[in-house]
Amino acid sequence: MGFFDDKQDWLRGVFAQYPDTPQGRRAALMPMLRRVQQDEGWISPERQEEIAQILGTTATEVAGVMSFYSYYQALPTGKYHLQVCATLSCAIGGADELWDELVQELGILRGDVTPDGLFSIQKVECLGSCHTAPVVQVNDEPYVECVTKARLHALLRGLREGKRLEEIVLPGKVGHEVHVRGEEVGV
Ligand code: FES
Repeated sequence: MGFFDDKQDWLRGVFAQYPDTPQGRRAALMPMLRRVQQDEGWISPERQEEIAQILGTTATEVAGVMSFYSYYQALPTGKYHLQVCATLSCAIGGADELWDELVQELGILRGDVTPDGLFSIQKVECLGSCHTAPVVQVNDEPYVECVTKARLHALLRGLREGKRLEEIVLPGKVGHEVHVRGEEVGV
């Protein structure tokens, strides 16, 4: 069964927002990708093909659009998809060490999901919050900022306990710390 088979009303509503032309129809690509991503946590090759057929385009074009946005996942993700910014400010602040810590703690690499289905990890480009580097984002929640190893472990512990992000208390202050290799070293 296709993902959109039982979502025809939703699909009609999306198409109604765009001109009734082949180009207008293809404008529905983004909302369709977003819907699959939200419901299934990733957009499999089968879903990419299904979207392409509905829109009268190719799976290659769908994959091309997806590759431009880190939000769209072409690999399975866990309940909590941890995105570690690896660009310059975060790299200087210890993003590589945080990544190694995650790999060791969770026992997974990019593209894996922990056996309990909870976690997947990904390095991403600048999240636009360089002044609070290093930065980690869980799913599409607000950023976790000034991440140290201690804050990272507190984050994982809280998520494992089923807490919402805003309920998790992270050690240390936010906003003015100096970090080196994932450790807080001064203000
Ligand atoms: S370099 Fe990480 S948020 Fe900009």
